[in-house]
Amino acid sequence: MAYFYRDGKLKVGTETAFADVAELARPQGRPTYIYDIGDIEKRLRAYDAAFKGLNTAIHYAVKANSNPSILKRLAQWGAGVDTVSAGEVKKAIAAGFAPSKIIFSGVAKTKAEIEYAVTQGIKQLNVESPAELKRIVATCRALGKTVDVAFRMNPDVDPKTHPYITTGFRENKFGMDESFLPELLATLRESKDVVRLRGLTMHIGSLLFDLDVLQEAVEKTIAVHKRFEAEGFALDRFDIGGGLGIRYETDDTSEEFAMLATYGERLTAVFKKHFGADVSSKLEILTEPGRILVARSGLLVSEVQYIKKAPAKTFAIVDTGMHHLLRPALYQAKHRVLPIEERKSSAGESYDIVGPICESSDVLAKNVALPLLDEGDLLGFADSGAYGFAMASSYNSHEFPVELIVENGRASRA
Ligand SMILES: Cc1ncc(COP(=O)(O)O)c(C=O)c1O
Repeated sequence: MAYFYRDGKLKVGTETAFADVAELARPQGRPTYIYDIGDIEKRLRAYDAAFKGLNTAIHYAVKANSNPSILKRLAQWGAGVDTVSAGEVKKAIAAGFAPSKIIFSGVAKTKAEIEYAVTQGIKQLNVESPAELKRIVATCRALGKTVDVAFRMNPDVDPKTHPYITTGFRENKFGMDESFLPELLATLRESKDVVRLRGLTMHIGSLLFDLDVLQEAVEKTIAVHKRFEAEGFALDRFDIGGGLGIRYETDDTSEEFAMLATYGERLTAVFKKHFGADVSSKLEILTEPGRILVARSGLLVSEVQYIKKAPAKTFAIVDTGMHHLLRPALYQAKHRVLPIEERKSSAGESYDIVGPICESSDVLAKNVALPLLDEGDLLGFADSGAYGFAMASSYNSHEFPVELIVENGRASRA
């Protein structure tokens, strides 16, 4: 458990090695993201264990949280990364990832980004369109270099998540369906000197809980994999993407660990069914988890500036907002609001927690029941380790939040 109360005060870490959240956040003097490194390591190990029956490589999705200390630890623990910009590739290399551990996804790679990735010799470019493949071929020829690629397929499934985070549905901009195959095959055949197709990749969306849909997407993509094999391409990788969700409404993490174990078991059975019991000697299975590894590790701590009792609402106005944690404004996401120092009094009130940004969408939480609040109280927005700081901006010229890493009960500036 990354965050827990002891003697009425919120702590971060484990029962035996922890730090006090208020003591960490107060001296910073501005909103602060705290990350519990131990929680990320525990989740990486659980992910690994879930796929122990396959030859798996975990490529953490850097977009979820690109904090340099987190990346450095993930590199030390042996993970790889999935990146979506040259900036993320650079951050990964700076954090210690070998280029052979880096894959590069994304629909809009520029010429300069492809050039950079090819020059670095990264593991794989995940190609999203025939036009991108042609650009990669031209870039490799100009540089006199070769590159390994995977084709991102769009299996056209409905992952039943927020419409802004579906990516494997026919109306999404991501990936390709089978109608793209003739053009891809033609380009591949005339560019064997520079481009090698290693496999297919898919990622159908984020915050997913429906394993039936994930399995359906994998099986549809396996059918396309077999078509490439029938066309004479020897594929030795299969990238299943990321996407597993967490239940933001509760601190009970047992469901997500159980889901992860079942996901691993089910996909192991699927790959064995389609490729035989010795699938591990034929295929490397790449995974791209983001949220499930880092979301629970993070807490955004902010200070109440004012209490404003309007006729219709009581507002707690805090010093953080949509510029630091965009998910509530962008996806109507809900983060649990944790008082950092629990009050002994049982009196409470229902608050809308709002920030300083000049937008009415700058609401972090609506109608939350909390102990009576005062100016100067600290509040934490739970499970904000994924797509939190990574989506932060300086809108309205506010400063970015501080980031602190907590490891074995000790904090350091990230
Ligand atoms: C290609 C790709 N892989 C992996 C991820 C990580 O997804 P999640 O954080 O839901 O695991 C994303 C997120 O959007 C993605 O676009």
